[in-house]
Amino acid sequence: MNWDFTEGNPFSSSSGNFLGQLDYLTKVLENSVPNIPAKVNQHDATLANSDDATPKLISTDPPYYDNIGYADLADFFYVWLRRSLQSIYPDLFSTLLVPKAQELVATPYRFDGSKQKAQAFFEEGLGKAFNRMHEISHADYPLTVYYAFKQAETDQKGKEDESIASTGWETMLEGLIKAGFSIGGTWPMRSELTGNLKKNVSALASSIVLVCRPRPTDAAKITRRQFLTELKRELPKALKTLQQGNVAPVDLAQASIGPGMAVFSQYAAVLENDGSPMRVRTALQLINQILDEFLTEQEGEFDGDTRWALTWFEQYQFEPGQYGDAETLSKAKNTSVQGMVDAGILEAKGGKVRLLKRSELKSDWNPNSDSRMPDWEIAQYLIHELDQKGEMGAAELLAKLGNRGEIARDLAYRLYSLCDRKGWAQEGIAYNSLVISWPEITRLASEFTQSEPVQSSLF
Ligand SMILES: C[S@@+](CC[C@H](N)C(=O)[O-])C[C@H]1O[C@@H](n2cnc3c(N)ncnc32)[C@H](O)[C@@H]1O
Repeated sequence: MNWDFTEGNPFSSSSGNFLGQLDYLTKVLENSVPNIPAKVNQHDATLANSDDATPKLISTDPPYYDNIGYADLADFFYVWLRRSLQSIYPDLFSTLLVPKAQELVATPYRFDGSKQKAQAFFEEGLGKAFNRMHEISHADYPLTVYYAFKQAETDQKGKEDESIASTGWETMLEGLIKAGFSIGGTWPMRSELTGNLKKNVSALASSIVLVCRPRPTDAAKITRRQFLTELKRELPKALKTLQQGNVAPVDLAQASIGPGMAVFSQYAAVLENDGSPMRVRTALQLINQILDEFLTEQEGEFDGDTRWALTWFEQYQFEPGQYGDAETLSKAKNTSVQGMVDAGILEAKGGKVRLLKRSELKSDWNPNSDSRMPDWEIAQYLIHELDQKGEMGAAELLAKLGNRGEIARDLAYRLYSLCDRKGWAQEGIAYNSLVISWPEITRLASEFTQSEPVQSSLF
């Protein structure tokens, strides 16, 4: 057990102090006007309840496999709360410590160190809970499931496990589908504060909300080939919408699960070539593959210099490579090394070629007097400005770029996924940050554009 941030001093005047916390709470109370009294019950989600007969609107944030030992962590506070609140809530505080046995968490130490037993307990329990939800949820309302677990954060085993086909996601989706739900859609929601320590790591910026409805009992079965055809038709449209909605690049892979699973889970089964039903894991891998294809195909939208830079970057990042290789690649991308040197994105010296780092970019770049301006250059300069001068600086540049600027965001998605695959976390953050700041940058840029005539008349 490890604290990864410090607790603020309640008596200080800094953020997180006692009065500050009180302020947060009163704001909520002021803004939520309850007109029906709430009733809160503590209950094991896997077991039947006395009021199960009344249909429910269910919105849930289930446990994430082995990610957090809530019950263990809660003991830290429970012992103090119990002393002060036991007389008010005798039922809630009837046990000496927080109840552990019912908790759905895949921790081997509760099962004599057996990983398999822990896993089986979790999967079975989650399955039971989803089955109950299927039985008691109101027919007129979908079940909403919040999920914000990026397996790569905890799983060190290797690249394969870092894909979206990770155990946490797979178990949850498998459970939902087995219980008879189909996943109709996913909504990424900004649910994490960015002002904490997670700011500089590629932590998730959003939770994904899965919207599920009972699958019709007469749902059809389709073949793997039909599934792929449908995925290829539906997924790119959905991914485009997600990008336009500014989903953070770090969340794109998880957000793509929704539209992909919407196709998969509307069928009673997708049959493999040997007649066996396709596993969720396989479906997730296929969804990921199509996401990759989609991002690669987007490369077609970029100019030749940028397409060259993307391929070069993937191999060398900002390190030098052989001039001959650069030249050969430039032919394939219909550009030239010298042209890109002139464009200001490349250095060619002593038989070596390398992409310029953002720290080497000009401080007084003016796009209006640049006659060769690859999308690559635009994106790197925008990130450079964002880094050095914040959103205001990037907005000022975007205002000068006009319509050309928009492409930087598409490129940032491509570059993020490339960095993610290569394990270049630090470089990936730069591209993720550009997309996250994009709405604010464009808003500020439009203010610049509007105020421009006034300013120019001053000079
Ligand atoms: C991801 S957390 C939800 C956190 C919540 N959204 C919040 O902000 O506090 C999952 C929760 O499921 C609870 N849980 C685990 N096993 C359960 C069970 N069998 N029945 C009911 N709740 C359970 C855990 O105690 C934990 O609070």
